[in-house]
Amino acid sequence: MQYALITGASSGIGLELAKVMAAKGHNLILVARRLNLLQELKATLEKKYGVSVQIRVADLSAFGEVQALHEFCKQNEWQVEYLINNAGYGDYGKFDADKIQIYQNMLQLNVVALTELTALFVNDMKQRRSGRIMNVGSIAAFQPGPNLAVYAASKAYVMHFTEALNYELRGTGVTATVLNPGVTETGFVSRANMENAANLKNGGLMDAATVAKLGYKSMMAGKLNVIPGWKNRLLALGSMTMPSREALLRISGAILKDSSVR
Ligand SMILES: NC(=O)c1ccc[n+]([C@@H]2O[C@H](COP(=O)([O-])OP(=O)(O)OC[C@H]3O[C@@H](n4cnc5c(N)ncnc54)[C@H](OP(=O)(O)O)[C@@H]3O)[C@@H](O)[C@H]2O)c1
Repeated sequence: MQYALITGASSGIGLELAKVMAAKGHNLILVARRLNLLQELKATLEKKYGVSVQIRVADLSAFGEVQALHEFCKQNEWQVEYLINNAGYGDYGKFDADKIQIYQNMLQLNVVALTELTALFVNDMKQRRSGRIMNVGSIAAFQPGPNLAVYAASKAYVMHFTEALNYELRGTGVTATVLNPGVTETGFVSRANMENAANLKNGGLMDAATVAKLGYKSMMAGKLNVIPGWKNRLLALGSMTMPSREALLRISGAILKDSSVR
């Protein structure tokens, strides 16, 4: 049986992607750490759309979890036709040695787990000559992010990695798309402690359902790089047309400035 595997499906953009895909008739494998939220979502989606929803509780930043997830799908003969690497988080504030563990964990989730999952599932897809991958990046990928240095760099990795993969996969029947949202109404801002970021909502606050709908459509069309919302597209375009790296850094620094620090 064919499935769409969505990481970080218990809330925010991942949850909305699960709803969009179930409504389109896709069977789902939903992955996150909070079992109760996954159970609720499974019950709702199965009842409403008649699709098969499997849940897997996993901390994808933990060693061996990605491999175990891939094995679990194989053992159950669940064919992952769509892989959505959405789980991720940020941490706001100056780069600080006291946060080494947070950085390790964040990079493990945002970068390493995403890369491993892609590697394991893309192989199966290439053999079948069909499949779609969508990796969730961020508009933070388009410039260095003072006060968000590690997160922004992790999302630059996601964007460049996915774009290169898209190119390599041409002609194989498999596609890779990077979805780069701007600030979106989810649990992200509070987990990242970003409430004090001075001009955070410059691109306008988007709702997760709109982002998910566009992401789904773009993934199905095999698009390369998608930025939801015209204000966010303008910000990203602006980043690419700055006269110098210094100018880009200053603007990014002003946008991400901590308003609680005088
Ligand atoms: N919201 C924004 O403003 C924004 C902007 C640009 C990009 N993004 C990106 O969008 C993606 C989704 O975030 P969101 O905004 O929807 O935030 P969210 O509501 O906090 O959702 C994050 C999801 O990731 C899961 N997750 C977190 N750590 C995990 C771990 N170690 N193992 C497995 N799952 C884990 C969470 O589930 P559990 O807690 O149940 O594990 C949750 O389902 C992220 O990659 C984020 O960087 C968000």
